[in-house]
Amino acid sequence: MNIDRNLLNISYNDLSGGEKTLIQLAKALLIKPDLLLLDEPTNHLDIARIEWLEDYIKSFKGASVIVSHDRYFLDKMSNKILDIDNGEAKVYETNYSGFLKEKQANFEKQMANYKSQQDLIKKLEAEKKYFAERGMATNSSTLTARAHVLQNRIDRIKENAIKRPKVRKQINAEFEEQRKSSKRVITVENLTVTAPDKVILNNINMDIVSGERVAFLGKNGSGKTTLIKAILQERQLPLQGKIEIGPSVKIGYLPQIISFPNDNQELLEYFEGEAGLNELDARRVLAKFEFYQLDVMKRVGKLSGGERMKVKLAILLQQKINTLIFDEPTNHIDIPTKEVLENAIEDFDGTLIFVSHDRYFINQFAEKIIEFKDGKLKTYLGNYDDYKEKSK
Ligand SMILES: Nc1ncnc2c1ncn2[C@@H]1O[C@H](COP(=O)(O)OP(=O)(O)OP(=O)(O)O)[C@@H](O)[C@H]1O
Ligand SMILES: [Mg+2]
Repeated sequence: MNIDRNLLNISYNDLSGGEKTLIQLAKALLIKPDLLLLDEPTNHLDIARIEWLEDYIKSFKGASVIVSHDRYFLDKMSNKILDIDNGEAKVYETNYSGFLKEKQANFEKQMANYKSQQDLIKKLEAEKKYFAERGMATNSSTLTARAHVLQNRIDRIKENAIKRPKVRKQINAEFEEQRKSSKRVITVENLTVTAPDKVILNNINMDIVSGERVAFLGKNGSGKTTLIKAILQERQLPLQGKIEIGPSVKIGYLPQIISFPNDNQELLEYFEGEAGLNELDARRVLAKFEFYQLDVMKRVGKLSGGERMKVKLAILLQQKINTLIFDEPTNHIDIPTKEVLENAIEDFDGTLIFVSHDRYFINQFAEKIIEFKDGKLKTYLGNYDDYKEKSK
């Protein structure tokens, strides 16, 4: 693992997202372990480093246990999947794609079994009713006895009844309709940003026009977040040059590391304020994102990475925006939540700018790739596969 900068002189908080992950990873690998326990190891890592880690794990002799929401990574790394769903754990002896297929097949099988068992119960109950009534009417003990036998059979079936398999609720998330932005969304001219010990962006130019879907790609520490923060006028590093935002551009921003102004604030209260909703509507929207009842009383500082992202996404969805800027949106979130995000983006017809190291996600959305390298930008048209081909 190659860390190309003397990170020891920089305070941990100023490190880029990937630099933080690298330090954690280096700590874990340096002790030459027999067993690797990796909790979302690819989060924030750039693609070259993810590929390095893939090779490392492949050649690693011991066992590795990996928690990950990165579908490409999971597919390559796993030969056994432990699926934890609704409090139950189940083992699948396959990789991720195999697991998805098997899980779906299991679901369909269980649903079919469940339905035929329910049909059987209904049929037996109708028969039992018939014999019981006839037995009463004709005072026949034979018929009444048959009704009893049937009832016993029904009871036995019900005791070990097949459970109805749970269908995971799909969250329907859609961005509020928005007014189209001006043609020119973001124009960057001769921009230079410097940190105390290096030039991060060196005299760059960039033009983003309305409706484009642009991915920022580049190694950890190459300046992607820095450019986004400069566009949003957030980071206080010295800069020279010009950044222009079109007049009717309304930006929704999902930062790489999500924090809240007051960690002690309760989720519901925070959400009502940010989304401009009354309590009832706020609870309704939060429930869509799987924050139920007592969950909404949690203090925001206690939320997990994935929960933070869901809260921010839920807020963005309430706002009338025409430009989305996402800095590594898929880190921390589980695959179903990724799908919610993906569906929402699918329906969004404004401008999309995102940083991602998630190859699946980039392929799905990027129509243009801007590569960050040695302080400069290079533009490629197409998705990740096209970029891989052209940048060889
Ligand atoms: N305030 C600061 N002081 C010193 N160095 C800084 C400061 N802010 C950022 N940097 C450095 O600037 C470089 C670019 O950081 P940036 O966060 O833009 O990287 P990135 O491309 O977003 O990386 P990642 O993929 O890891 O998120 C990094 O090497 C980072 O350590
Ligand atoms: Mg970053």
